Amino acid sequence: MNNSISNVLKELEKQSSLEKSRRVDVPQKDRMLAITKETGEFLDMILRLKKAKYMLEVGTSVGYSAIWCAEAISENSGKIITIEKNPDKIKRAYENFQKAEVTDIVTIKEGTAINILKELNMKEENKDFFDFVLIDADKENIIEYFDLILPMASTGGIIITDNMLYPEKYRADMKKFSDYLKVNPNVRTTTLPIGNGEEITIKIK
Ligand SMILES: C[S@@+](CC[C@H](N)C(=O)[O-])C[C@H]1O[C@@H](n2cnc3c(N)ncnc32)[C@H](O)[C@@H]1O
Repeated sequence: MNNSISNVLKELEKQSSLEKSRRVDVPQKDRMLAITKETGEFLDMILRLKKAKYMLEVGTSVGYSAIWCAEAISENSGKIITIEKNPDKIKRAYENFQKAEVTDIVTIKEGTAINILKELNMKEENKDFFDFVLIDADKENIIEYFDLILPMASTGGIIITDNMLYPEKYRADMKKFSDYLKVNPNVRTTTLPIGNGEEITIKIK
């Protein structure tokens, strides 16, 4: 892996494990709440298998997951759009993207996910466009996010959703989401026990 990327990932992994250990007291709004390293490895693998070019992420935080994805995306001369509403996290994400040398690949869209997704969804050029999507923001509106994202995913496009199994407080919402996906004839979907539980959904038509 590229040195700048792996150095930033290592630094963020240290921050994340400190945060999880509660040895430092980080206010809830500033927590990274990042995907696990195992999930990062999984995303990198899927992106490479898929030869993905255009990625959309909902929930940037400080950029850990986007940095995991940036190398494979850059190898296909692709781009990542990532959505975040917290200005402090956007600042930290931008700094991390600079350190990882991926600012030419990643664009942060600042605002609430629902507004940005509606904006992106209205643009004709985004129809059937994204071949890889990561959903990792608030869970209450997840079905609405999915409904806005699906028309923007290409046929064969992959949508990954984090936190299907952990933390347990999200289980009920995530079960509802998974049941919603299972009855949609336009997708195939399954929940994998990787990291905090990853839903892998493929748009088949
Ligand atoms: C779980 S964290 C994302 C972690 C990131 N994907 C990673 O693995 O590095 C969720 C992020 O979504 C942001 N978020 C939550 N609700 C949002 C909303 N409605 N619109 C935009 N961002 C939101 C939070 O501020 C938080 O930074």
